[in-house]
Amino acid sequence: MSLTLDREFLKGFVGQNDIDALASKIKKAHDDLHNKTGKGNDFLGWVDLPGKIPDALIKELEALGNEVRKDSDALISIGIGGSYLGIRATVEYLGGGKLPVYYAGHNMSADYLHNLLETLKDQRITVVVISKSGTTTEPALAFRIVKQFMQKKYKGDELKKRIICVTDAKKGALRQIAEKTGHRTYVIPDDVGGRFSILTPVGLVPLAVAGVDIKSFVEGARKGEQEYGKMDLNANTAYQYAAIRHALYHKGKVIEVLASFYDNMYYVTEWWKQLFGESEGKQGQGIFPASMIFSTDLHSMGQLMQDGMRNIFETFLTVDQPRHTVIIPKEEDDLDKFNCMAGKDLDFVNKQAFRATAMAHYEGGIPNLSLKICKADEFHLGQLYYLFEKAVGISGYLSGVNPFDQPGVEAYKKKMFGLLGMK
Ligand code: PA5
Repeated sequence: MSLTLDREFLKGFVGQNDIDALASKIKKAHDDLHNKTGKGNDFLGWVDLPGKIPDALIKELEALGNEVRKDSDALISIGIGGSYLGIRATVEYLGGGKLPVYYAGHNMSADYLHNLLETLKDQRITVVVISKSGTTTEPALAFRIVKQFMQKKYKGDELKKRIICVTDAKKGALRQIAEKTGHRTYVIPDDVGGRFSILTPVGLVPLAVAGVDIKSFVEGARKGEQEYGKMDLNANTAYQYAAIRHALYHKGKVIEVLASFYDNMYYVTEWWKQLFGESEGKQGQGIFPASMIFSTDLHSMGQLMQDGMRNIFETFLTVDQPRHTVIIPKEEDDLDKFNCMAGKDLDFVNKQAFRATAMAHYEGGIPNLSLKICKADEFHLGQLYYLFEKAVGISGYLSGVNPFDQPGVEAYKKKMFGLLGMK
């Protein structure tokens, strides 16, 4: 098993009996997901998506990536929420692809966009604009501005080929724009919601353009689909994770901190926050998903974690084999007294810091579990994404909510359109 769950520091908080007590509810949730009989069943396309991704599409996107990278210095990926976070999480976790990726349309800061376009003004650019609805304000406005920037740099067929649209097959303004201008388009399936869409063209198109190995990434997700499709609670890490967090929530642990000692996981934790927050936070319920990157945040949030209100549990994301080794050098004078660590990989120290933190937080009253990824690569990231998707589906059904809608996100939009005088 390449992703493993360590439950050592749950002792006294959640035991096997708590997990077993949820077995029949989990079986029902599993059946509802797989037979499409539960709430939100028109958005379950992600459940068997990895196995259905055509190999021909992967090849086509790899060819697209090779073509784009020949005459581009950078990619601008425009999108927000589910059309942004997974892409950034994947690129940053892997330490970048073959083409630098910049992001737009995930905020409305004039300074941000000004500085971005200033940085890129003399570079050869390709744009991927992603919006399932095709009508979201942030990416729509960013696209207008980036389009103007591109129109100043390129004309005719050159302009046409340098903008790629990822959107709905029929609906939305982005579809209309793409059809009018003749930009290349890729379709987001109807039955996959934004936060579950990293394995659709939403993720695969910009990742392939960036030069990420999407074949391994999809293979990892396919492994996840097999592993976490089994209705055997003792063998299914996704279901165990869902059961543990459900049990902790009902024992008053209403905040989950997803913590990692690997700072390249920052956007993975941001993606996870959207996945869990938007799926579970409804009808007055839901674990509050928070995230921290250690040891950085131990020097700012460490006090609260050790000693604050005990309504938190922690899930550590750890990596057995990071991508690089960095050896600590020996110094003749040893003024800082760290020669005892000379010759060791920095990751060895990082792992001791993790172990120490897990122990200290447990002793301080924070139950914690760890999800260990054996290798920091595309394959295991694909598998991890699928694990979390499956876990949140089960988790939402355990709580009785529809994990696949997000009616609450409309409230600010309605008020904003009112203030802007729009209908
Ligand atoms: O999960 C969601 O549905 C949202 O976060 C969307 O992904 C986000 O609002 C972007 O939507 P769209 O792709 O339609 O522009």
